[in-house]
Amino acid sequence: MFNKDVYAKRRDQLRSKIDSGIILILGNGDAPMNYPANPYQFRQDSSFLYFFGLDYQNLAGVLDVDAGKDYIFGNDVDMDDIIWMGPQDSISDRAKKVGIVNTSEFSGLAKFVNEAISKGRKVHFLPPYRAENIILLGSLLGIRNTNVKQYVSIDLIKAIVSLRSIKDKYEIAEIEKAAAIGYEMHTTAMKMTRAGIYEREIAGRMEGIALSGGGKVSFPVILSIHGETLHNHYHGNKLTEDRMLLSDAGAETEMRYCSDFTRTFPVSGKFSQKQREIYEIVLAANNAATLATKPGVKYQDVHLLAARVIASGLKDLGLMKGDVDEAVKAGAHAMFFPHGLGHMMGLDVHDMEDLGENYVGYDEHTSRIDQFGTAYLRLGKKLEPGYVITNEPGIYFIPALIDKWKNEKINEAFINFDKVNEYHDFGGIRLEDDILVTDDGCRLLGDRIPITVDEVEAIMQNR
Ligand code: GLY
Ligand code: MN
Repeated sequence: MFNKDVYAKRRDQLRSKIDSGIILILGNGDAPMNYPANPYQFRQDSSFLYFFGLDYQNLAGVLDVDAGKDYIFGNDVDMDDIIWMGPQDSISDRAKKVGIVNTSEFSGLAKFVNEAISKGRKVHFLPPYRAENIILLGSLLGIRNTNVKQYVSIDLIKAIVSLRSIKDKYEIAEIEKAAAIGYEMHTTAMKMTRAGIYEREIAGRMEGIALSGGGKVSFPVILSIHGETLHNHYHGNKLTEDRMLLSDAGAETEMRYCSDFTRTFPVSGKFSQKQREIYEIVLAANNAATLATKPGVKYQDVHLLAARVIASGLKDLGLMKGDVDEAVKAGAHAMFFPHGLGHMMGLDVHDMEDLGENYVGYDEHTSRIDQFGTAYLRLGKKLEPGYVITNEPGIYFIPALIDKWKNEKINEAFINFDKVNEYHDFGGIRLEDDILVTDDGCRLLGDRIPITVDEVEAIMQNR
């Protein structure tokens, strides 16, 4: 964990952004896979980690805004726990490491919250995303479980988004560590790739690299010769010489900061002309997006710039037609690029998505564009120094979507469906880098994973 002053400062900053009352931030517990003692790998809540730093199960943190005090609620282990888990530090010793001296048994939380409510004090809490925490909040606050989400504190959400969006130097150093693990994962995938092996052999090795880096994968590895399925977690296909392999994966560090990269490369190790032509368009969109990423620029505009680069490249190949700006305005590019350009990244790979995408990615100056494709853009607002984002443009040939648009004549003024037919079985290409917005532009985080055609073919030559 960071030095305790880092956490104390973050809590003071949060307090200064909330008028009054208490702020309740729940940690996570273990989630059972198939019986209670066989849980999924534990993942602490990211806001809890940000303000309290303690990566252990079944804790709650409270900030008393008016009294300026912080509390940790949690139970010390008993002898049974010690027998199965080994000796554990006390809650009070753990809390001291993050600058907190007030601790209590977990059961003290109900009393504390009750007392606050009885005095008419506001209890600020975040949108829960785990059933156990919905039930806990319902019982602490005397609200039906189904109504809990109606009472979340918008003030708290906005305050936390404003703090967590700007990464400090310690956080950036952690993300760079995650990027280095991601580099190893992706270059290993490139070196392992050959016809005849199964996707799972590569995906498993990548996950192992993440685990040996001290954390785990930052989301389930997406690795597929069917890259046209955006989040394809099925790893059962055998690699064939004619396909490209899309690999979208990242790692978490021991402190749970993330990386998230995508590369797409030919199974054969050499791009065919058709593969290279589409690849170069995606690479041009990625590079154009990075060049345009700077403070004060609306990310929505960077997304639309990438869309224009894609539409223009596809027009040059005869897949699209008509005026490029008009085509993008009509959303015609979205048949090929049906997702957003990128997202914030930090303690979550889609940073703070649990707090609500619109609070994280949009504000009073920028509203979500409600058009197929661009509607999926998670981040649209102006960029600020300290934001960490990903840029991940792609071109996909999704047979079901192509057939629907063709049959319904959607955007037929801008799409040459006869030519698209030649690519029906092409697959998909996405290229994703992690980027820090700086005072005057941006910089890539981590060494850039081989990305040009020459770089990719060179690393694959040495397999
Ligand atoms: N790279 C996976 C995602 O951003 O959803
Ligand atoms: Mn991503």
